[in-house]
Amino acid sequence: YVAEIDPSDTEKGTYDHFMLKEIDEQPIVMRKIIQQYQDKNGDIKLDKKIRKVMTKSDRIYIIAAGTSYHAGLVGKQLIENMSQVPVEVHIASEFSYNMPLLSENPLFIYISQSGETADSRSVLVQTKAMGYPSITITNVPGSTLSREADYTLPLHAGPEIAVASTKAYTAQIAVLTILAVDTAQAKGIELDFDPLKELAIVASAMESLIDQKEAFESLSKELFETTRHAFFIGRGIDYFVVQEAALKLKEISYIQAEGFAGGELKHGTIALIEQDVPVVALATQENVNLSIRGNVQEVIARGAKASIISMKGLERSTDDVVLPAVHALLTPLISVIPMQLLSYYAALHRDCDVDKPRNLAKSVTVE
Ligand code: G6P
Repeated sequence: YVAEIDPSDTEKGTYDHFMLKEIDEQPIVMRKIIQQYQDKNGDIKLDKKIRKVMTKSDRIYIIAAGTSYHAGLVGKQLIENMSQVPVEVHIASEFSYNMPLLSENPLFIYISQSGETADSRSVLVQTKAMGYPSITITNVPGSTLSREADYTLPLHAGPEIAVASTKAYTAQIAVLTILAVDTAQAKGIELDFDPLKELAIVASAMESLIDQKEAFESLSKELFETTRHAFFIGRGIDYFVVQEAALKLKEISYIQAEGFAGGELKHGTIALIEQDVPVVALATQENVNLSIRGNVQEVIARGAKASIISMKGLERSTDDVVLPAVHALLTPLISVIPMQLLSYYAALHRDCDVDKPRNLAKSVTVE
């Protein structure tokens, strides 16, 4: 069975909003990516030239904006862990002014759903002029960033219409996973990790979360119905996901939200915690499970309305959401789903324009 996403499907169908449709499509997109990046023998299928450019590089620079930047943060973790190449992730609009000292053989990876973001393109123009190789990871092959980079890795996610990005984020992380493993294999690094199998487990886990929409709707109501502020905390890889969670909530519900590292709480943000302020903690990583729970106790002691999203195997009976278990490096693919749904329902209950939030554009073609 091969899941299908119709690239010409730009209709909402039975959905009230594109955003919810696109959230629901994520398991299908995972299976589509598995299918597209797999050869007849079940091995990874990837352009050999991409493999070559990945193994030749001594440092990778990921350039992106918004949600794609957040996918890049997870990508750094995946690439460094599996293929042992150092990676830096940069916000496109800042890169030109704050350009780091580059390594001898840099490789630039541009992550962009639309492939049209002007800030990212301007960096690509610059790094091309410097003679450095580039790969674009995009949902729109044929877009500007795809045409102008040396190589393209397509997301196969189908059209993403809602301004707030959902399925492109998970597709970007899935493609980065495959790229990381392919590079490791090319370098002869032994991994006990079959990405296509692990992504199939992710797809089923996504489905089971999507089936629990009512639970997320009521949790969203409880947390966000009346608040003006919200905080998300996480450590390790969860820290990257909570930054995306805060962006999602801001974008569509206009609640001022911040996603930060649990350990930083005591260095400032805890001053903002007062009675009934919602704090959502993500706890999917074993090595930081106790410390993030400690942070939750600290905010509860100051009156916060705290909520814990944990993972099977690490859960406690009082946790609000227990995610199905997936590989520790792939947790962002499923921990982001409750975040997307919590934001969606927050926007819905506050009568916001879910698919077209004020002041925002789907692709930003000006610097
Ligand atoms: C805009 C969109 C965001 C998106 C960002 C980067 O600001 O509203 O949802 O994450 O651009 O877009 P890109 O197409 O480059 O991924």
